[in-house]
Amino acid sequence: MQKVLILNYGGQYDQLIARRIRECHVFCEVISAESTDLDALRSLNPIGIILTGRPSRPIDRRIFDAGVPVLGVGSCCAPMAHALGGQIRQVDPVHGRTLTKLSEQADLFVGFPPVTISWMDYDQEITSLPDGFFATASTSDSPIVAFGCTQRHIYGTQFHPEAFHTEGGTQILKRFLKEICGAEEQWQMDNVISHSISEIRRRVGQRKVLLALSGGVDSSVAAALLSRAVGSQLTCIFVDHGMLRKDEGDQVEHYFSRMDLNFIRVNAQERFLRRLEGVWDPDEKRRVVGEEFVRVFEEEAKKIGHLDFLAQGTIYPDILEDGQGYNDVVRSSRDMGSLPAHIGFQELIEPLRLLFKDEVRQLGRTMGLPEFLVGRQPFPGPGLALRIVGPITREKITLLRQADHIFASELERAHMHEHIGQYFAVLTDTRLGRSGQEYCLALRAVNTDDFATAKWTRLPYELLDRISATIVQEVPGISRIVYDITSKPPATIEWQ
Ligand code: XMP
Repeated sequence: MQKVLILNYGGQYDQLIARRIRECHVFCEVISAESTDLDALRSLNPIGIILTGRPSRPIDRRIFDAGVPVLGVGSCCAPMAHALGGQIRQVDPVHGRTLTKLSEQADLFVGFPPVTISWMDYDQEITSLPDGFFATASTSDSPIVAFGCTQRHIYGTQFHPEAFHTEGGTQILKRFLKEICGAEEQWQMDNVISHSISEIRRRVGQRKVLLALSGGVDSSVAAALLSRAVGSQLTCIFVDHGMLRKDEGDQVEHYFSRMDLNFIRVNAQERFLRRLEGVWDPDEKRRVVGEEFVRVFEEEAKKIGHLDFLAQGTIYPDILEDGQGYNDVVRSSRDMGSLPAHIGFQELIEPLRLLFKDEVRQLGRTMGLPEFLVGRQPFPGPGLALRIVGPITREKITLLRQADHIFASELERAHMHEHIGQYFAVLTDTRLGRSGQEYCLALRAVNTDDFATAKWTRLPYELLDRISATIVQEVPGISRIVYDITSKPPATIEWQ
């Protein structure tokens, strides 16, 4: 499959560029400029290279001699001009939307209006261009904010075509990909599925694969893909730690036990409850659940006998956020402890490692996975243990599960759930009511793009009223409901 490389010199634009390129149905990968040498780059055989970030050292000019089209964006543009033989100088940082004049002669901007708005973020300016290059855009601040050489297929833009604020930015990227790099729209889910399946078959052969299935989007899609590829050579262990939402364990079992794979559900609810007894501290809860999970999983894996591969639902942002270069190391997941370190296996297999979250969902849908699996909102590994403030008891889990289910059902009934990033109930440690024994329940709903920041959802009062009345009426033991109106930051999404 054709591939575009995003060479990242540090900065936060790499993932956004990758998203935009994949939206154009072209496959791309982000690699770290610092930890990748030129030979490694060439061996990846890209059809185009995009430079992003702020280089701390001069750019190796041999990148431009490889005969592969190059586009440098944002803070990479001036250092790129410098590497090619131009002159640059330091200026006060330019940051924000800027009226930009585009040259009609520039092949990157064919069909664009002569004046547009673009998003700038740079602090170096090009004062003279390298031989054979032409200025292709200007602003009132600077006569050269884009340059290029049509013969050599090398282009730079001080502005960010990938940024939402740049008008027609995606069109510029599309032109670079299609007209200049000759990219075809090969990145389609059908292709991705068949490509992944043949890759898995090639690696696995007749050997055995083990997957920890949590019922979350990533592990569910990984299970479906592996099942298609190697069928009964795959065993999925689903550890029910008793901290799942209403009916979740049964739904996961019902779906996966009918698939072409060996499905094992471990009902470890009692074990987890015993280990969590008297634990107050949220980090301790996380630790206990993680540790016990590894133990249970290990015991079950031993029963299966010899294993060759451990599969994980690692996705692309996990790898990028780990800050690894191309030769990344085995990741240890946040809640499940480090499974690879505990389970005897020969190799790790991560069939989703190059996919973004929405691509994983798309892939799941294309394979026919039901919405309750692919459309699922994030749910922390330790599950309801994090949504019960204070010590965990069987009674509290039951109360929370009932209340959480009512909240979710009412949001679904009102068709609100599709517009909310995450919603859930939290059982607080506050007791009141006539007996002094009834709990106060908190409801939380947030809108978010990336879960790093979030705004509390403005739910209609009538809906909140109905939810509150239903919970208090149907869940004896809960007599007070509050709605969390804090955003992140300063708060977090979860309560613990
Ligand atoms: P916070 O509470 O940090 O949550 O704002 C951000 C996102 O992370 C999820 N979250 C967790 N997920 N184990 C997980 O697997 C955890 O311990 C954990 N804590 C928070 C949270 O649900 C939200 O989506």
